[in-house]
Amino acid sequence: MSFSTTTPVIAIHGGAGTLSRASISAEQQAAYRAALDEILRSAQAMLAGGAPAIDVVTEAVRQLEECPLFNAGRGAVYTADGRHELDACVMRGSDLAAGAVAGVRTLRNPILAARAVMEAGGPVLLIGPGAEQFAAECGCETVAPEWFDTPHRLAQLHAMQASDRIALDHDAASHDAPTVPAPLDERDKFGTVGAVALDAHGHLAAATSTGGMTNKRPGRVGDSPLVGAGCYANDRTVAVSCTGVGEAFMRGLAAYDVSALVEYVGLPLRFAARRVVMDKLPPLGGRGGLIAVDARGNVALPFNTEGMYRGWARVGEAPVSAIYADEAGPEQ
Ligand code: GLY
Repeated sequence: MSFSTTTPVIAIHGGAGTLSRASISAEQQAAYRAALDEILRSAQAMLAGGAPAIDVVTEAVRQLEECPLFNAGRGAVYTADGRHELDACVMRGSDLAAGAVAGVRTLRNPILAARAVMEAGGPVLLIGPGAEQFAAECGCETVAPEWFDTPHRLAQLHAMQASDRIALDHDAASHDAPTVPAPLDERDKFGTVGAVALDAHGHLAAATSTGGMTNKRPGRVGDSPLVGAGCYANDRTVAVSCTGVGEAFMRGLAAYDVSALVEYVGLPLRFAARRVVMDKLPPLGGRGGLIAVDARGNVALPFNTEGMYRGWARVGEAPVSAIYADEAGPEQ
């Protein structure tokens, strides 16, 4: 077993967006930070024990899916017809293996289904009932579609529909609607979750999972399950997980673009990540951000919104979680 001289590191995100206009109590902020910290500590322990990066990011995203504060798994947003259609992707940097599912409605943890697709080594992306059937055959837990229902996401759907806004208007001006108080405005947030990691063996991996955007058209798929758009990992360069307006991240091949800037232009990670998020995506309407770690253990977490739920942890150091732009980051 070979070990890298670089300290293993994990970074996670839980979506980007604007600051909440509601009055947020310290307790409400603390709930989000506590959720991020708990997942970071769990991932840190796995990395310290020598776990492969692909296992660490899969488990971190599974935990984010299980947390109803975030838009993935339970707590996912609703489509225009009042359902949930979930997307996820996982990628291993050592051999560019990848697996993804899109538009699934009955898989408790879409990221585990994506992982099963990857492990099978056949198709990279499975959609809808075919993905559900395959994942169930692989032992992934299935649930009734209603399992993903949460009152606060339903209130968001009704608010969007009352103002006749659709998914792509998700970043339009907020309006009054019932929602749970949260540090980032739930009516103007690009919810997706993700994780990137460098392990003790020098390998990178990335994972991304989402419910998409509130009031999205049934059948719409965003960037999250698309290799190179919302998720990418290559041991030669970087691991990246994105959150934002999916169509722009798809058109910009955001995750792969960070890798390409590192590999072909030789940009350091922080400049490559910022160039994509701050320069390339905004003209495409690409509000959001990404998390990235490179093969040397550098971490970058840039976003062009007012905040992004995020955190990172190196083995042997205290985890750090942050929400707003004015909080210090490693390489924002
Ligand atoms: N970035 C998530 C989506 O657009 O679906």
